[in-house]
Amino acid sequence: MNGAPGPLEAELLEVALDAAARAVDLIHTRRPADLGVRTKSSATDMVTEMDTASEALIREVIAARRPGDTVIGEEGGEEVGGDGGITWWVDPIDGTTNYVYDHPGYNVSIAAGVAGRALVGVVADPTHGRTYAAVRGGGARCDGTPLRLGPPPPLEEALVATGFAYDRERRARQGEVAGKIVGRVRDLRRMGAAALDLCSVAAGRVDAYYEAGLSVWDLAAGALIAREAGARLGSLDGGPVRPESVLATHPDLFEPMRELLLELGADRV
Ligand code: IPD
Ligand code: CA
Ligand code: CA
Repeated sequence: MNGAPGPLEAELLEVALDAAARAVDLIHTRRPADLGVRTKSSATDMVTEMDTASEALIREVIAARRPGDTVIGEEGGEEVGGDGGITWWVDPIDGTTNYVYDHPGYNVSIAAGVAGRALVGVVADPTHGRTYAAVRGGGARCDGTPLRLGPPPPLEEALVATGFAYDRERRARQGEVAGKIVGRVRDLRRMGAAALDLCSVAAGRVDAYYEAGLSVWDLAAGALIAREAGARLGSLDGGPVRPESVLATHPDLFEPMRELLLELGADRV
């Protein structure tokens, strides 16, 4: 950490870590045989009873410690709080497809902040037994160990992560772009959980991550963790990062990667 977090950040971090640990216990340690799988926006967009139960549990932990805060969660929508000004962004299971198939990398992602800016972020990854946490201006850590990006490789030696939307036509267009990118970089990874992809940038397990069409709960915690580890985040149009357009990579690799993505049409999927 670059100095101790302030009292507000310290409290938010404690609540986020507690909520994430309890959610991990529920979804991972006590994973039921029947997950109660249903579909949402498309046949490939699944939700389980554990997504709903995990979000309810996280909301309970937040409400007990921070009554009056606003909570925006993927499954329960927005619950507007009082005047405190703190908003929580909750993805109760990021990587539900991984979760359903018992494939590693699903995670619980929780961030809290003000005016759309995350102050703290926690991503708990139970299959690898790791918890990532960051405080704005205070650095990022994985299980207490500080994360700091090393120098990046040249573009053609970069290992790049991405993800695909649930809409079939959109993911087909994204796949076409990915098919072109794979010939221009070291290799491509589609691991299935956006929040953890951002943590993988922070931890140096990939050199870059891009995706179009995320939601705020996919992005809030992981983006802070990646940024606090030294990554540059932005959108493909050159503006600030937003869920619709995400690129995260070392500052020296950002422009080469952005130019490649624009050349291959990743901004038009
Ligand atoms: C999804 C995952 C996936 C990404 C999708 C997200 P969910 O979140 O993070 O990797 O490609 O864009 O929607 O639905 O599993 O919470
Ligand atoms: Ca998600
Ligand atoms: Ca989710």
